[in-house]
Amino acid sequence: MTVSPCILLLATNNADKAAEMRDFFTGLNLVLRTAAEFPQIPAVEEDQPTLQGNAVKKASALAAATGLLSLADDTGLEVDALNGRPGVYSSRYAGENASYSENVDKLLAELQDIPAAQRSARFRCVIALANGSRVETVEGVCEGVILTARQGQGGFGYDPVFFLPEIGRTFAEMSLEEKNRISHRGRALQQARRLLEKKLRMS
Ligand code: IMP
Repeated sequence: MTVSPCILLLATNNADKAAEMRDFFTGLNLVLRTAAEFPQIPAVEEDQPTLQGNAVKKASALAAATGLLSLADDTGLEVDALNGRPGVYSSRYAGENASYSENVDKLLAELQDIPAAQRSARFRCVIALANGSRVETVEGVCEGVILTARQGQGGFGYDPVFFLPEIGRTFAEMSLEEKNRISHRGRALQQARRLLEKKLRMS
């Protein structure tokens, strides 16, 4: 007997993220669709004060608009010397439409007097999975330190200044596969995969 696949709707319009998720969910009996394929879905404003709040809001809105199992994520960089900032505001740290480079410049400027021992930080990624009105969340965290200057050409966002002491390199100096194995998003996606496996077993 063949079981028809379940549709999983991804909140992201970012093709790189969608490809990464496709990779993590390979082998599951799922058909992945992205929000870009549903132009009638109203845009969801990421206006919640927490990563969890934004992820839940996005996944719930998609599930309500389409009736499909929906997945959304939100990520932030928490810097201890800045009391957890930029956190939920990571994408707009240097202003509403700030580029990755402007955000990194602002971070380096704010930390310029902070000694090496106090430059600890972490990426946190929250993923929400909404099925009707039921929402579950998982979280992945990756610890590191913020360098005083960029190092490496790969990655995106804050990758060139996010250094992993146990590995001795920044995210921008790793291949995507290597980053995915240890990153906040990779860890959250591994847990999301387990939730999906459980859900598919029950359906
Ligand atoms: P988003 O919630 O995934 O859109 O992430 C918000 C912001 O966090 C992005 O605009 C990036 O600046 C930053 N960010 C998220 N994930 C990463 C990452 O893996 N490396 C570097 N920066 C990231």
